[in-house]
Parts: sequence; C-alpha cells; structure tokens
Amino acid sequence: MHKVIYDTDPGVDDAMALLFLHRHPEIDLIGITTVFGNASVETTTRNALFLKREWDIAAPVAKGASVTVDPNRHERPWPTMVHGENGLGDMPVPDLIDLPLDPRPAHRFIIETVRANPGEVTLVAVGRMTNLALVLKEDPEIAGLVKGVVIMGGNFYVPGNVSPVAEANIHGDPEAADIVLTAPWKVVVIGLDVTAVTTMSRTYLRGMADKGDKAVKQLDELSQSYIDFYKHAVEDGMMVHDSCAAVYVVAPELFTTITGAVRVVCGGIADGQTIVKPDGRRFPAGDWDGLPSQVVATGIESEKVINLIRDTLLRA
Ligand code: BDR
Ligand code: CA
Repeated sequence: MHKVIYDTDPGVDDAMALLFLHRHPEIDLIGITTVFGNASVETTTRNALFLKREWDIAAPVAKGASVTVDPNRHERPWPTMVHGENGLGDMPVPDLIDLPLDPRPAHRFIIETVRANPGEVTLVAVGRMTNLALVLKEDPEIAGLVKGVVIMGGNFYVPGNVSPVAEANIHGDPEAADIVLTAPWKVVVIGLDVTAVTTMSRTYLRGMADKGDKAVKQLDELSQSYIDFYKHAVEDGMMVHDSCAAVYVVAPELFTTITGAVRVVCGGIADGQTIVKPDGRRFPAGDWDGLPSQVVATGIESEKVINLIRDTLLRA
C-alpha cells in the first residue's frame, strides 16, 4: 500500500488525479495539501474541500502557500482560459464548503505526517513546488524521511506550455522548484515530455461518464471547457498531466526514464526552464555538479496509462 500526500491546485486535471488516488486500491490517500497556481489558494482550497465532500474522501485538507518562496516575484493573472474562473472549468461550486480544514498550514501538515510515518509517505505534487520548498526550508531532514516524491512539472526535450522553454508548475515558482529538485531526496519528474502526449478524448471521457457514478459524471462535466481550451493542441481531447504523476506511483513500468541532476533556470528569458545533466555525460565543471541524481520521465505508454485511469475511476 502506498501512503500518499497529494499536493495540488485543483484544477481540472488535478481533479481527475485526485479521483484516481482516492479510488486506486493500492493507494492510501492520507492528506491533501493545496497551493496557488491554477487559481488563488483560497479557490484551490475551496475546490479541494468541494471534491472531498462530493466524492466522500476521508483525507484531511490543509491549506498551503499563496505566494512564491521569493517574495519579490510578481504574480501573473490566473490561467482562467485553461481552468475557468473558478478553477474547476466553471462547473457550479458553492462559495463555502461546510467542512473543516486541517488547522496546520500545508507544509507543517506534510512535515508532521511524514515524521509520524517515517519512510512510508510518497509526496505527489502537481502544482507549484512552493509547499515542498517550505517543507525543506523548515525541516531539511524530511528529505531523508519520505519514501519518495513524484512531481508533475517541467519539460526536457520538448517545448514548454507557458513559454517556449517553461512548464506552468515550474514557471509559477522557479526558485521553489530548484530547491525541491536539488534536495537529497529521490524526485521522479513527470513533465510535458510524457504528459503532453497522454491525452484523453472527449468521447472516451463521455463513455466513462456513461458507465460511471456521480463522481465520474462530475469529472466529465468539469472537464468540458478544459477540452475546448486544448483545441489548439489535441483533437477533441485533453492532456491528463497530473494523472500521469499519480499513475507513476502504482505503475512505474509504464514509463521510461533517465537519471541526472536537474536545475531550474531562475530569471531571464528562460525563467522556469528545467535542465537535466544526464548521468554519464561529461561536461566541464558546472552548476549541476555534486547534486542528487533525480529520475526524469522521457517516455510513456500513453494508451495503457489512459486505460488504467479509466479502470481505476470506474471502480466505485
Ligand atoms: C500543469 O499546470 C496546471 O495547469 C495543470 O494542473 C498541471 O499541473 C500542466 O502544465
Ligand atoms: Ca495541477
């Protein structure tokens, strides 16, 4: 059984990954932590509580960061064209959800939960890396106490999605991502190299909704405008970015990976670019030297991943 804390900014594709983590029989979802990104942290937290209530998820929700680790960075507008004004594709969501939040900020919830379960917790982070960076700043020993870290973020041998070289989760807080990727823990990086080719069509999702329960029907409803947004890149379908990271936890054999130290460009025209120095390649001394080797996904069996998502979501 994999104990998972899910760090997320729901978020349309975040919602699908949440249902996957909730329904997969080998995953014990022990916490949901929120972060700003697809919307403000107030909105992403409200959305997490809404999905917890609608889908009857036992895991507590802890509210996380609302600003970048470097306070001098300027916030850009929320990506409403992707995830809607309310972060959930503008499906109707009440302003207030009558459920308690965990009293701790997300990073402290993570620290205390990992310390209570040493060597057992996998962190699955699919928003900006701010909460994880705050964990490392407050309690660096956590790096040695987690079972693993899987993130959705970055791009290595393909273009970015918010700039020609940067992916949204990393670009949203590059300093945080550099802290997370250079820390002495094993990070599996599930970036656009694999998520941009893993798409689910509108028809496939509708077929799932026809067979599935209320949760799957809601997922279908909230994904419609996100699918419309992806018209430029996908033929009537959507990239299921965050679910790819969730799938890795239970089916790593569906991915091919390389290893190497990873750095994040902070500032300038390449702000937020992720760059791996593949293990075994020799370069003159540089900024990747002496850093932990991380695992970078470069290939994926997309069809099997999509089918695993379907089969898991339909296990009500
Ligand atoms: C990532 O950015 C967000 O829009 C998605 O939820 C995903 O985590 C893709 O770049
Ligand atoms: Ca996300």
